[in-house]
Amino acid sequence: MSPRVMILHGPNLNFLGRREPAIYGHLTLADLDAAIAEEAGRLGLQTRHLQSNHEGDLIDALQQADDDCLGVVFNPGAYTHTSYALRDAVASLRIPVVEVHLSDIHAREPWRRVSLIAEVCLAQVAGKGAGSYLEGLRLIALHLNPNAPRESP
Ligand code: DQA
Repeated sequence: MSPRVMILHGPNLNFLGRREPAIYGHLTLADLDAAIAEEAGRLGLQTRHLQSNHEGDLIDALQQADDDCLGVVFNPGAYTHTSYALRDAVASLRIPVVEVHLSDIHAREPWRRVSLIAEVCLAQVAGKGAGSYLEGLRLIALHLNPNAPRESP
């Protein structure tokens, strides 16, 4: 079976497509998940996708992933900027986590520039729309198999 990576979407990301499209684009969560699954296939990975608006559910999903996945691509939404509980959860995992954001959190309101979670992640990718998730997935793949041949761009 291919190695499995958890794709975890935090609060309000179920509203993608209708939520502030000028910032987050017109892609729905289903479109986004389909693009991620396609890229995962190219990388020889399987993905498990989950979205929750609830902090505790996100913690449960991270802890579950530590038991049966090899990495996590995580968009914590606004919890990025507020949640010590999610930071502690990510710090406690054995598997790598990449924090991703559709928008460029560094070019928006000052409070959005602070991530409580990035420091305990393998990397943070922001501002590339769906591409942030795809890059996050590629970083996990590279981390899992650093010697794998890479396609030239
Ligand atoms: C977000 C950025 C966060 O600041 C915001 O609260 C979100 C989405 C992004 O993907 O750009 O919900 O994580």
